[in-house]
Amino acid sequence: MTKGIILAGGSGTRLYPMTAVLSKHLQPIYDKPMIYYPLATLMLVGIRRILLISTPRDLPHFQQLLGDGSQWGIELSYALQPEPRGIPEAFLYGRDFIGSEQVCLILGDNLFYGKLDFLREALRTNAGGTIFGYPVQDPQRYGVIELAPDGSVVSIEEKPAHPRSPYAIPGLYVYSADVVDIAATLRPSARGELEIVDIHRAYLAQGRLQVRLLGRGIAWLDTGTPEALVEASIFIHAIEKRQGMKIACLEEIALHQGYITLEEFYRAVERLPASPYKSYCLRVGAEYEQLAGAAG
Ligand code: TTP
Repeated sequence: MTKGIILAGGSGTRLYPMTAVLSKHLQPIYDKPMIYYPLATLMLVGIRRILLISTPRDLPHFQQLLGDGSQWGIELSYALQPEPRGIPEAFLYGRDFIGSEQVCLILGDNLFYGKLDFLREALRTNAGGTIFGYPVQDPQRYGVIELAPDGSVVSIEEKPAHPRSPYAIPGLYVYSADVVDIAATLRPSARGELEIVDIHRAYLAQGRLQVRLLGRGIAWLDTGTPEALVEASIFIHAIEKRQGMKIACLEEIALHQGYITLEEFYRAVERLPASPYKSYCLRVGAEYEQLAGAAG
């Protein structure tokens, strides 16, 4: 069974002063805290044992918001990253949690919307490292993949001035358990951080890096700047308003994935304060009952 890690530390300087006292990942994306979206992504692909890593200042907030996950039929645990010294630190602080199992890492400010079969398939077929390539207009802001005509990876460059492809690497990765050993060999870069690109270069050198290109059927947004934050909110708002359904409602996902029974669902929803979110959950429960009644 794949384990999940959500990395939700960092300093969030681009969102200052909003992040002066509160984590970026607790800021709203329309009607939910940002952290709900990456958590929903992991839950939707069947990952139920999840480690959330954040800063000493923010970790207690996440624990207060998300608890032990039992209300959603998942196991949430927590670890501290004392200083934001790079993404691969997730594998140093998450070593015991990962144990001998495959792990899926998602950055707490990455939002995916669409059919997640690409990720389910990656979890099934990964044999080392699996990363994704997503076409963007401004690849120079990201890690960028250079591909050979046969689709194999030629190189990976971090924030290149002259990108060799439009394919940026989203903050969603799948690794076999030996990622913790690779992470242990890394040395900090010139900016004093461990670099995720070095993990990918290690797998590439071993011939164990797979890349899957994503198309326009998937929306990938990162939400680290004020503009990206408002754009993501508008995006979620537009779809939720049109469909009358919520994106990343964790109670609904838990029910539909079969992680909790209808009874457990109602017990979790009862505890919520009167709110549009609660009313939505109650509607979901009623619809579920109707469907179950029709099926029975
Ligand atoms: P970034 O957006 O690169 O950094 P940041 O969140 O600190 O923001 P800013 O650049 O505005 O200062 O981080 C990407 C994601 O990874 C984000 O969700 C935070 C997380 N992260 C950590 O949790 N620990 C780290 O050491 C790093 C580098 C990032």
